[in-house]
Order: sequence, then structure tokens, then C-alpha cells
Amino acid sequence: MARETQATRARYDRLAALYDRLVGSDGRGSAGSQWRARLCAAASGRVLELGMGTGANLPYYPARVELTGVDISPRMLSFARQRAERLGRPVNLVVADAQDLPFPDQTFDAVVSSFFLCTVPDPGAALAQAWRVLRPGGELLLLEHERSSRPLLGRLLDLVAPLAVRLVGDHPNRRTRLEAARAGFVILEEVPLWLDVVYFVRACRPRAPGVATGSPIRASCTG
Ligand SMILES: C[S@@+](CC[C@H](N)C(=O)[O-])C[C@H]1O[C@@H](n2cnc3c(N)ncnc32)[C@H](O)[C@@H]1O
Repeated sequence: MARETQATRARYDRLAALYDRLVGSDGRGSAGSQWRARLCAAASGRVLELGMGTGANLPYYPARVELTGVDISPRMLSFARQRAERLGRPVNLVVADAQDLPFPDQTFDAVVSSFFLCTVPDPGAALAQAWRVLRPGGELLLLEHERSSRPLLGRLLDLVAPLAVRLVGDHPNRRTRLEAARAGFVILEEVPLWLDVVYFVRACRPRAPGVATGSPIRASCTG
């Protein structure tokens, strides 16, 4: 395992007991919980959540979803396991590197990621793996924050990035939607939830190979 990935695991193993209080993912009713509800409501079928962490999204998945969650941090996943037990929510939890997933090609109908692509060392590799394990026509569902295109806010996020990376392994100035498009996903829906920083994104792995943009390809996401 690459050094940066090992460091991420160690960091989240250390943060695990504090995580829910740090990000406020304990309670319902907050903006964050509404965002999570929106994200999970879009998922159906066989669903893989990348970087599931403490399982903050678990309360929000529809009951019929067949759920698998991966995380590099065993400690984070142990909290997800406890949460799943409390909720009576069946979930297959796997300690694994999202940059090198242990699943066959085209296993899932949807891949979900919330506040994960900002922490994974190589988001391009994680998106390539998401593509590989999604069936053609399958959906990538994101709740992520990224660099603002507003000059002042964007610059501020650039400035705080080195500290955020050192403290919590978070890269606040990534361009996640752009990275998803570069990985070949077709963006079907993008909803700004907080300024132009936090987004809900629904994208798909098109059925047709080749160009990843344009209406014929977009059409190949549905039906
Ligand atoms: C900021 S937390 C988000 C947790 C959860 N998705 C949420 O919405 O609260 C990022 C999570 O990604 C996990 N992670 C980071 N790099 C990873 C990798 N290469 N493979 C799998 N999980 C990873 C971390 O261990 C951590 O649990």
C-alpha cells in the first residue's frame, strides 16, 4: 500500500471515535442530514459506498438497497458496523482501498461517495475503479465539496488546503466534478447545496463507449 494511503488509514483510525461529533453526523434535521437523505434516495439496486467511514449515510438508504461499504480504516468501519446493528440495516462491510477495489467488473448498479473524494490520495484512481465496478448505465452519486470558482473563496480554499491536508487529510480545493468527467462519467444532474462548494452530483457510466459528452451518450445512460 502506498505511503499516503497508509497515512490516510492511520489518520482516520485515530479520528474514528471523534468523527461523528466533529462533522455533526450524529443528528438528523441538519443541512448535512438533508444532503445525505437526498444522496441516498437516488441509490437503488446493488450499491457500493466508497469511504463509508462511520456509516453516516446508513439511516438514509432505502430499505430495498443491497448495500456494500468499503473503507481503508478498520476503526471507522467498526463504528459503521455498530450503527448498522443499531439500525437493523444489512450491509456488507469490507476493509479495502477504493483505489484498488476487490470486486469484479460491473458488479454494482450505483456507486456512492460522500466527502470521500476530498480525502482519498488519488481521486482519479478511485473514480477509475468506480467506473470498472459499475455496470454500463450504472450511476455515480456524489455528495462532495470542491474548490469554489469565486475568486476570493477559491483562493481562500487554496490557502487553507495545506493545513487541512495535514490535520484531517482533506483537500478543500479539488475539482471533483471535472475529475469525474475526465474519468468518463456523464454528469446528469449537479445541484449546488452550499454556494458553489458542496454539490450533489448524479452521473453515469454510459452504455456506449467513446465520447463521454453529448446527447447520444447522455441518452445511453438511461433506459
Ligand atoms: C471525510 S471521511 C467521510 C466518511 C463518510 N463517507 C461520510 O460521509 O461521513 C473520508 C473517509 O474516506 C476513507 N478513505 C480515505 N482514503 C480511502 C481509500 N483509499 N480507500 C477507502 N477509504 C478511504 C477514510 O478512511 C474516511 O473514512
